[in-house]
Amino acid sequence: MDRRGFIETCTAGAACATSVATWPAFAADARPKSYSRVLLIDELGDPMRASKLRPLSNYVFHYPFEATPVFLLQLEKPALPQALSLRNNDSYTWPGGVGAQRSIVAYSAICAHKLVYPTRDISFISFRKTRARSGVQDHLIHCCADHSQYDPAKGAEVLSGPAPQPLCAVLLEHNAKTDTLTAWGTLGGELFDDFFRKYEAKLSLEVGPKARNAVTGQAVVRELEKFCRNPVQC
Ligand code: FES
Repeated sequence: MDRRGFIETCTAGAACATSVATWPAFAADARPKSYSRVLLIDELGDPMRASKLRPLSNYVFHYPFEATPVFLLQLEKPALPQALSLRNNDSYTWPGGVGAQRSIVAYSAICAHKLVYPTRDISFISFRKTRARSGVQDHLIHCCADHSQYDPAKGAEVLSGPAPQPLCAVLLEHNAKTDTLTAWGTLGGELFDDFFRKYEAKLSLEVGPKARNAVTGQAVVRELEKFCRNPVQC
């Protein structure tokens, strides 16, 4: 969905009003890709309230497919729109965070280098409150496999390591009245085809035949420590 389409869709609902007011113009190349609108819920099945997210903590949900994990983060400070580019030099503008302080962001948790991702057994990639490697700031998403580091406050741009492009952004909408969050699309370098090709056998064991099914309706958000038995810190 492009910006015009997004606005046209939103004119039917007040829920989009805040997002439209702050939506930046997209650069010419990469455009948002819309998927099902999915309400984020907690483990009890209640809508996840944006104001209840613990700051600087790793939350995981799956979107836009049953087997593709996403990090949800409350960064505590506004995350402003950011100009970015992909490994093919396509450019795009990440629209920034959502929520009352524009501090809530979401990114595909599939590393842009060799597609490392969090599973129920182990996770080599996660957000770190403190500096994971010398020479860079705190509050980064760090992949321990080869030490790529992404800045979640800037559209997950790559700050160090071999990753050739930012993590793919997952686009969220915040309903200010209900304080709920809805995922509706992606923006940036999707790696889902590569991911399903590389991990076909593994995903069939982990997730089963529904691995590539689209998530619809609702997605459960869990803290990484509850989702994954062994979140690796490196
Ligand atoms: S797989 Fe993440 S840095 Fe290599």
